This record gives sequence, C-alpha cells and structure tokens, in this order.
Amino acid sequence: MIIGVPKEIKTHENRVSLQPGGVLQFRRNGHKVLVESGAGLGSGFSDEMYVENGAEMVSSAEEVWSSSEMIMKVKEPVAVEYPRMRRGQIIFTYFHFAASRELTEAVQESGAIAIAYETVEKKDGSLPLLVPMSEVAGRMAAQEGAKYLEKATGGRGVLMGGIPGVPPANVIVLGGGIVGVNAAKIAAGMGANTVILDLNIPRLRYLDDVMPKNVRTLYSTEGNIRALLPHTDLVIGAVLIPGAKAPSLIRRDMLSLMRPGTVMVDVAIDQGGCFETSKPTTHDDPIYIIDDVVHYCVANMPGAVPYTSTLGLTNVTLPYAVQIANKGWKRALNEDPELKMGLNIADGKIVYKYVADAFDMAYTPAGEVM
Ligand SMILES: NC(=O)c1ccc[n+]([C@@H]2O[C@H](COP(=O)([O-])OP(=O)(O)OC[C@H]3O[C@@H](n4cnc5c(N)ncnc54)[C@H](O)[C@@H]3O)[C@@H](O)[C@H]2O)c1
Repeated sequence: MIIGVPKEIKTHENRVSLQPGGVLQFRRNGHKVLVESGAGLGSGFSDEMYVENGAEMVSSAEEVWSSSEMIMKVKEPVAVEYPRMRRGQIIFTYFHFAASRELTEAVQESGAIAIAYETVEKKDGSLPLLVPMSEVAGRMAAQEGAKYLEKATGGRGVLMGGIPGVPPANVIVLGGGIVGVNAAKIAAGMGANTVILDLNIPRLRYLDDVMPKNVRTLYSTEGNIRALLPHTDLVIGAVLIPGAKAPSLIRRDMLSLMRPGTVMVDVAIDQGGCFETSKPTTHDDPIYIIDDVVHYCVANMPGAVPYTSTLGLTNVTLPYAVQIANKGWKRALNEDPELKMGLNIADGKIVYKYVADAFDMAYTPAGEVM
C-alpha cells in the first residue's frame, strides 16, 4: 500500500503522524511511504531522517494526497484539504466529527474511509489512542502549575518542593483518571503535598496503594473541596464524565476561599472545563486572572511538547496503521473489533452512531459497508 504523510497545517500544530522509525516498519512490511517535505520539522525530525529510513519525500501536499491509498494525519482535515480527499482513500487521524457538521459532510461527499483515532476502543471501554495525550497533558499540568506559581507570572511565589525548613506547595487534583494520576505523580515527584479527589472508590483504593506517600486520596464532595481550598496553592482539574460536559466543581463564589496567587489549571477545558470561571486559552496567551486566582486553560496542551507528543501518539497508532496497510481496511477492521470501533464514515455513510445522532443524520451499521 502507498501511505502518505502530509504536513499538518492547522494553526500551532507541530506534531506529525509518523516518525522516521515508523517509515522503516512500513517498508519492512512491503509498503511505500510518501512524506511531505518538512512534515516532521516541528517535532524535530528532518527530511534526511525520513529518507534514511526509506521514505520518498514529496514537495507538495497535493501530491501526497493524490498518490496515497492511506493518509495518516494528526488533526482532522481543514477546508483546503477537503478537495484532496477522494473516494475509497483511507484517512486515519483524529477527526472529532461531532464537533463539526462541515467536516462530516465534506468527508461524506468525498467517499473516503474515515477511521478516527479517538473512537478506537478496547473491550473495557478505554480509548488507547487518546491515552498518551492525557498522559502528556497530566504531566504538563503540574509543570505549568509550578511555573505559574512563580511571582512574576501572578502566582503566590511558592516553590513546589519547598526547601529544608520551609514547607512544600499544597496541590489538589480533581479526578484520579489518566490525566489526574499523571499530574499527581509529577507534583508529588517535585515534592508537593498532593491530594487526589475522585468519586470512584475502587480507583481511590488503587491510587492509595500505588502512589507515593506524599499523595493522599479523598472522596470528591463540595464540602471536601471547600475545606481544602484555603490551604491550596495549585488546583488541577482533570475530571471526565464520558459523553457529557465536565461538572463545575469550583464555582465563582469559591474563588474567594483561595489565597491571592493560587493557580488553577483546567485540563478538562476541552470538555467545557471543571471550574465555572474557565474559558479556553492558547499557548500564546495561556493565563488570565479572576479574583486574584491565576487560570490556565489551554485546550491542546500536548501541542506545546510536539517531540514527546508525536512519539507518544505514533507509538500507539503505528501498530493499527500497519494492520490496515497489510490487510486492507475491510479485513483489518473485521479481524480487530477495537479498530472497527474507529470507523466513522465510509462510502458517504455515517457508521458511528454518536456522530449521526449529533447532527440528526442517517446512521448505517458498520457491517453494511464492510
Ligand atoms: N487540555 C488538554 O490538552 C487535554 C488533553 C488530554 C485530555 N484532556 C481532558 O482531560 C480530562 C480528563 O481526561 P482523563 O483521560 O484523565 O479521563 P479519565 O476518564 O481517565 O478520568 C476522569 C476521572 O474523573 C473522575 N470524576 C468524574 N466526576 C468527578 C467528580 N465530580 N469529582 C472527582 N472526580 C470525578 C472519574 O471517576 C475518573 O476517574 C478530559 O476532559 C479530557 O478530555 C485535556
């Protein structure tokens, strides 16, 4: 199969869908890889590195799209890419169709086969192609929180780990899932007193067993959160209720419980945020202050560390992509129920129910297009 890797063109997107080592793996399986010149530069991979691994560099995006049977991307196609998609071409990327009717209709009209990273799903309901990005965002949340606790950026001027004779920062993490546990691990590793709050008791029990001794667990109630806020330096929001807007766990009136310069990092901002005063920000202008509390609400945190994010993402996407290339999409999906969950649109038909429902469009069971 011919696999195409175009350069990402969405603003501030520096990741790339395939790292040079992935090219070699496709080659070993008998496939050909076309990479748009410069596609890896944002993540630190030069054209030479791709060529050394057997890629063919191509100077224009149009050529990559028109010559490839499968396109691997990171972000959903943007408007200038719509006319490049074509009937029967496989596109494997993050689509997030439910967020855009325009994109959904463009892919339907193209007749392309859209396999979405975000809906590939394991038997236990976990989403393996989203996990690395949650890990990155969680670890970054503690790092960014530490930075904005510095006085020059509006913070309280507290050092996360303290020093001998001076206590460390107090950090609370709302939600003990993938983001939360990664945030807590880094905060605790920096020496901060850390509390993880969750509603899931088995999860709290597990975290109590495995986390270091400067991490405590607490059942998540408004009363418990209110009691912690007056002594807290950094709050990290990491809750998720699948398929729903994040609950507002810190409301506007609760900001007055915190000391001036307290920092709140809302990782759940991509689901609406879990603080009432959260609104999405960007890496160019990441924070704002309300009632003396610093808010950090960047919706695509992994974009700040494209080298790590690209490697984390491609580690998990490549095995699925190789299966698709080796077997063709129909057989690969038929033989792997996890990957089959990724099929969203094929031959103009929406085969993922949640997307069809989002726009009140017709739904076709995946079996009918395969
Ligand atoms: N901003 C970014 O760049 C970025 C990147 C990755 C993920 N995210 C977002 O981070 C959020 C968390 O993702 P995740 O992968 O950790 O999800 P997850 O499902 O692994 O964990 C969510 C946790 O929240 C808990 N929870 C639900 N309601 C709660 C409540 N009221 N109080 C306390 N805990 C509660 C759940 O029990 C669960 O343990 C999601 O909204 C995700 O989209 C954002």
